[in-house]
Amino acid sequence: MKIKQLIIPFFAILLAITSCTEKTTVAKKDLSSTPETKSDAKMESFLDSLTKIMTLEEKIGQLTLMSTDWEKTGPTINENYKNLIKEGKVGNIFNAYSVKFTRELQQLAVENTRLKIPLLFGYDVIHGHRTIFPISLGESASWDLKAIENAARIAATEASAEGIHWTFAPMVDISRDARWGRVSEGAGEDVYLGSEIAKARVRGFQGDDLFATNTVLACAKHYAAYGAPIAGRDYNTVDMSERELRTTYLPPFKATVDAGVTTFMTAFNDVNGVPASGNKYLLTDILREEWGFEGFVVTDYTSINELVPHGVAKDNKQAAEIAINAGVDMDMQGGVYMDYLKELIADGKVTEHQVTTAARKILTLKYKLGLFSDPYRYCDEIREKQLLMTPEHLEAARDMARKSAVLLKNSKQTLPLSKDKKVALIGPLANDKYNIIGSWTAAGDRYTKPVTVLEGFKEKISNQANLFFTQGCEINSDNISDFQNAINIAKKSDVVVMVMGESEGMSGEAASRTNLDLPGNQKELLKAIKKLGKPIVLVLMNGRPLTLEWEDANMDAILETWYPGTMGGYAIADLIFGDANPSGKLTMTFPRNVGQIPIYYNVKNTGRPYEANGPEQRYRSRYLDVANSPLYPFGYGLSYTTFKYTNFAIDKKTYEFKEKINISVTVTNTGSFKGEEVVQLYMRDLVASVTLPLKELKRFEKVMLEPNESKKITFTLTSDDLAFYTQDMSFKAEAGEFKLFVGTNSEALLETNFTLK
Ligand code: NOJ
Repeated sequence: MKIKQLIIPFFAILLAITSCTEKTTVAKKDLSSTPETKSDAKMESFLDSLTKIMTLEEKIGQLTLMSTDWEKTGPTINENYKNLIKEGKVGNIFNAYSVKFTRELQQLAVENTRLKIPLLFGYDVIHGHRTIFPISLGESASWDLKAIENAARIAATEASAEGIHWTFAPMVDISRDARWGRVSEGAGEDVYLGSEIAKARVRGFQGDDLFATNTVLACAKHYAAYGAPIAGRDYNTVDMSERELRTTYLPPFKATVDAGVTTFMTAFNDVNGVPASGNKYLLTDILREEWGFEGFVVTDYTSINELVPHGVAKDNKQAAEIAINAGVDMDMQGGVYMDYLKELIADGKVTEHQVTTAARKILTLKYKLGLFSDPYRYCDEIREKQLLMTPEHLEAARDMARKSAVLLKNSKQTLPLSKDKKVALIGPLANDKYNIIGSWTAAGDRYTKPVTVLEGFKEKISNQANLFFTQGCEINSDNISDFQNAINIAKKSDVVVMVMGESEGMSGEAASRTNLDLPGNQKELLKAIKKLGKPIVLVLMNGRPLTLEWEDANMDAILETWYPGTMGGYAIADLIFGDANPSGKLTMTFPRNVGQIPIYYNVKNTGRPYEANGPEQRYRSRYLDVANSPLYPFGYGLSYTTFKYTNFAIDKKTYEFKEKINISVTVTNTGSFKGEEVVQLYMRDLVASVTLPLKELKRFEKVMLEPNESKKITFTLTSDDLAFYTQDMSFKAEAGEFKLFVGTNSEALLETNFTLK
């Protein structure tokens, strides 16, 4: 019985190896998923047989993930990885891509190990694989769930065409601290929006069929609360109430489980005293038992080993024991499961059953990907040639870059520029291919493929003699040698466009900053140009909210483009010259200064709220030296047109629990450009058994309007949308008075009231 079942897949593997050279056959076969391969009963019986004949060492091999030496995304590299694959000690690989390399490594596993179990290939495909989209924070500013899903879909198509089966994305860490460099990888500060985007990304990566060769496993990371390190310093301690954890930091993770995410990655940080990579409460009690997650959990890079410096394990062996007992299935890069699980079983600290259970979860997903029927089914040179950086992918990236940009200021309609103006283009990021695609760029080319702003401008300006360019300064230095050239070309021009910001390495992992001004002498150059009295457009590229008080006061227009990706230069030119209209809205609050951080829109009132016109000013929750309000609030972003909100209405004044609350508002384009608006609906529970925020985003809709066009937007809520963690931590709504707000950002809002009884 056992032998028969196992012969079938190995026979299939053998067949696949032979047909891998017959490319057309493979490509054709991959278009359809055969019912046999997808049958659960068949899979379970295959896995029963397989796990029964696997030795303990072979199972531990499945629990081990190692990086190649192609790329280093953490502190250590194990150069012996190829031998470990051959010995069956490493069943999963990351930081490898391309058909050639993944096939070479797959062959090591399939041709040398006793059971020929195929490798699983993981990679950080975060915002694109070859075609690089805007950084995740930028994409989130589009508030366009379909476009976000499509970006993930394209990333999965390209990555899987290069042998990848699994992406370490989406990162769904909510963050309210712009000092933390990894805010660039997430979807911003809001729970509802963050959860919707998390689901869209999972759908995009995984599609609806894991067996299809253009889908990959997604991985919700970094579980949990990694976005709340004390003082914004990466990897730092996280200490928060259970209420805050469940209200703000866990919902996007839960949303990914609901969307069918197949894997989870633990975080580096500790949460309330227990490191996330050894945290049974998070990994077993909540993730598996409460939420019913059935996939596997991988650690972050060497984060089991890091239980030792965290001070909860005396050595790596004890760290491995803590991790597996907490619910970690796969060890990324640490090698401690490989080194110690066998001993731990012999010592009676861990059972073989635990190892088998973990291995089975991993084997299940390998099976669902179709790797047992053909380990090389993602290794097809034809698909690799056909599916990378296609015109369609590049166009989607350009569109996403346009949608992600946020117009922060546009006084006297400085933008859009007319194409016959004399333009001085200045700044360290104006003709920079390397940085424009941001950090975590997978297999993205930083040297030849990205389109710079200068290249984008050349396509737009009617007479090339009207376009002047110089870099002016560097991103982060005090070199002023090009200042004078910048001043000279600015003098000759009608308008100056300055492209400035951070280098890609200034945000992302291990890139926390305490000063969020434009780095180096960029502001000095802005000041020098400002003296000339010409209109100045500041185009920003950066991975986080910056402190821009001076720029806001002194620039004529400011366009935040994040790191806009491969097609960034074209997209920016589309926006600057009015071939497209900005519609992005901030998903993270921009502070006035670093002292306000953490700053976010859905604050609570406090017992002593500050009121600017209140009778008493002294004993109030406020700063003496800066306003409480941000420079730019959550949800904020301008357009070349204007939108008016009217007829904000609800269908009743009093609702029963579970009854539908039907809400409507009319939005009119009152300007002269066609444009898209993100209509935002917020809610406040006025009196509850616990303190609640002044506003919480509940729904949004993106709508395109021609000049003078109006559309009625409708939203529906029920009491489920009004639920929160009550004093006894049950999640439910309470009867009482509520406010609803609708508008163009989290501050400019129409209001209405209703009662829930
Ligand atoms: C460390 C990062 O924290 C994580 O996000 C990433 O997926 C892994 N390294 C793998 O590169």
